[in-house]
Amino acid sequence: MVDRFDLGAEMRGWLEEASGLPVPEGGLPLPGRAEAPAVLARLGCEPRDAEELLEIWPDASWPVELWWLMERMYAVVAADLAAGRREWRSWPSQVRVADVRARCAVVFALAAAVPLLERVYDRYGVPEEVRAATLSDVGRHVVKTRQIFGYLGLEIATWVALHFRAGLYELGRLQYEPARLGVQGAVEWPAPERAAELGAELEWGRPVLRLHIAPGGPLDDAAVGASLGRARGFFREHFGADYPVATCTSWLLDPRLAEYLPEGSNIVRFQRRFTLVEGEGAPGEADVFRFVFRSVEVAPERAPRRTTLERALLDHLAAGGTWRVRTGWLRL
Ligand SMILES: CC(C)(COP(=O)(O)OP(=O)(O)OC[C@H]1O[C@@H](n2cnc3c(N)ncnc32)[C@H](O)[C@@H]1OP(=O)(O)O)[C@@H](O)C(=O)NCCC(=O)NCCS
Repeated sequence: MVDRFDLGAEMRGWLEEASGLPVPEGGLPLPGRAEAPAVLARLGCEPRDAEELLEIWPDASWPVELWWLMERMYAVVAADLAAGRREWRSWPSQVRVADVRARCAVVFALAAAVPLLERVYDRYGVPEEVRAATLSDVGRHVVKTRQIFGYLGLEIATWVALHFRAGLYELGRLQYEPARLGVQGAVEWPAPERAAELGAELEWGRPVLRLHIAPGGPLDDAAVGASLGRARGFFREHFGADYPVATCTSWLLDPRLAEYLPEGSNIVRFQRRFTLVEGEGAPGEADVFRFVFRSVEVAPERAPRRTTLERALLDHLAAGGTWRVRTGWLRL
């Protein structure tokens, strides 16, 4: 099956691991074609993407191997959700697979898993507005995939799998991922002695909300403030957990952006909210090209120079500079 659809060696290993997971009772609970438009709307799919996904909606004409692939993907989501898995889950990208059905298998598996996630949301009383916003990130990533590759697919399944193990919540303009300081996700965190000096709530292992910024619409300062203002209360109310600190690890926090962008720009105002973790961070060019130029290659010669940010990013590189992914923190 891996060979027939050219899914790659990484997927072979992933499927071997997934093959031991329980088979869902009654098979994969994929909604029928009649319910499909509602599920795709719930996942935030844009009309064009929804239409194309409907055209290939899995049915009896699909090879049995692809049904098995979707079932295994669903089994992984179900097992992670049931176990309350917090660690990052690798999920080999299928974005370059030629067969559109195999390429989109992950979208259908996630569509089948929506009721599992809704049950967890029910348990914690997650409000409808937060559920809808969080789930709609799937559609946003289908859009992003088309912008980068030019066709239907979902490039970064590993990212969306996070939402589906109830590991990410979208509260207004920002997304929040409960984690542990220094242990999960940040590019850098101060050495344990230094972290302790900054305050007990910044020590290694303490609870933290990792912030993420979805594309779509400006990073309006008031909307950011409103989102940050409700985050701590949200997790206290629904999960009984206190998260006094948020961190963000992003190309958006490279302080050199402020040398190019106007003081009143949203990116600069966003940066000013954070205290940067000392250090160099990680190389940021790949992220810059992905998030700004929608390109998987770092190709300055082909990049457009339409906006102030685009020109700043390219001028800095042309002058021999680099961009970095930096981590910053703030108290909620
Ligand atoms: C974060 C984001 C919403 C900020 O956009 P914003 O609110 O418009 O930001 P600013 O007000 O600071 O914009 C300053 C300038 O940069 C431009 N700019 C900002 N983001 C841009 C982007 N992604 N692509 C091209 N230009 C962009 C703006 O158009 C403006 O230039 P102009 O005055 O010539 O029009 C936007 O960059 C975005 O959607 N990024 C993708 C998501 C992302 O990077 N997430 C973080 C992942 S780690």
